[in-house]
Amino acid sequence: GGIHLAQGQGITVNYDEAKVGTYTLPDPLRLPDGTAVTTARQWEQQARPDVLNLFKEHVYGQMPAKPAGLRFKIRNENKNALNGLATRKQVTIYFTPAADAPSMEVLLYIPNKVQGPVPAFVGLNFYGNQSIHPDKGILLPTRWVNNNPKGVVNNKATEASRGLQASRWPVEELMKQGFALVTAYYGDLEPDHVDGWKTGIRTTLNDELKIKEDEWGAIGAWAWGLSRIMDYLEKDKSINAGQVALTGHSRIGKAALWAAANDNRFALVISNDSGEGGAALARRNYGETIAQINRSFPHWFNPTYKNYNQAPEKMPVDQHMLLALMAPRPLYVNSALEDQWADPRGEFLSALQAEPVYQLYQKKGLGVTEMPPVEKPVGETIGYHIRNGKHDINAYDWQQHIAFAQKHFKKKAKP
Ligand code: GCU
Repeated sequence: GGIHLAQGQGITVNYDEAKVGTYTLPDPLRLPDGTAVTTARQWEQQARPDVLNLFKEHVYGQMPAKPAGLRFKIRNENKNALNGLATRKQVTIYFTPAADAPSMEVLLYIPNKVQGPVPAFVGLNFYGNQSIHPDKGILLPTRWVNNNPKGVVNNKATEASRGLQASRWPVEELMKQGFALVTAYYGDLEPDHVDGWKTGIRTTLNDELKIKEDEWGAIGAWAWGLSRIMDYLEKDKSINAGQVALTGHSRIGKAALWAAANDNRFALVISNDSGEGGAALARRNYGETIAQINRSFPHWFNPTYKNYNQAPEKMPVDQHMLLALMAPRPLYVNSALEDQWADPRGEFLSALQAEPVYQLYQKKGLGVTEMPPVEKPVGETIGYHIRNGKHDINAYDWQQHIAFAQKHFKKKAKP
């Protein structure tokens, strides 16, 4: 508990539940004229488009459509990857027809011992595709990467960065369970620093997408890239494009939620420790706040979001409404006990407050109204757990995500 000073920033961070303050959440089931939304049809035709637009206008910015000139190139394919466990494919998605088109590199592992098309987990990574597994066949990124003592030097990924975040990607386990894994480096869309937009798609695709760089933010750019991966998956016959689970940790979890809000081709959505600007309620003054996130990461959101730095209660939305945009698709939200910065309780309450929209579809949510004990997952169509340990995505989290996806896709692995 208690009030802490954010490192070197001179703003106070509250970690005391008694000092969270009182707040009233906007009601997703209330139209602007006060009419109550009582059916799924009314939600889809009247309320939902409005809520999505409010998030565009006040939080994440616009979401441009798929560019007409999008194209794919299979760079290589190895049917005997991971000692025969998987087929590894590397695909470039070019965003325009030009020879030097802006592009992203997609890495796929597809299980060999399962009859396809297979369900897939899709998620962006923080340090390049080579960071997810030591597999020497993975191409290194040539773009700007955040420095890391484990092999990223002068913002270039080196051989030493292979498998840098392997603990976050249980590739072999996914293969055994019959899921494909699909990933791409988030910096292919926009390098994650204040000036990243200058070399990312918010600049290079201005003309193609008919959008100015300040009409969206980095989270929007990352989310947009996730939908382009989906465009590719719809064309890959080894993947069941109707069973794609979108996952993301932390800032990439924020992007995953925003992608799935805009693109209902993602059949299932997972928010791992996404925190402020992700699953966590913004009106709770606990851990990171809008003021904090805009100060540290001014490039992530729409400029309008900064208007709420001192006044989250003035926002016409809160993050439970973002979660409600997933309905009726299965949604899993999880937190970590030592990740108080992300406000675990705020993530739980947000999932709880998304339930009324799921109920319009006769879907059951969490099945509890109080936070469950540590490592006791709860929920039906909305799942939740809080685990011991730090801000991370680990084997425990994946175990729950895989079980959740298996339950909802009703397709157990047949190795
Ligand atoms: C920072 C940031 C969070 C973000 C996290 C991450 O802590 O304040 O909002 O989720 O980085 O991406 O790991």
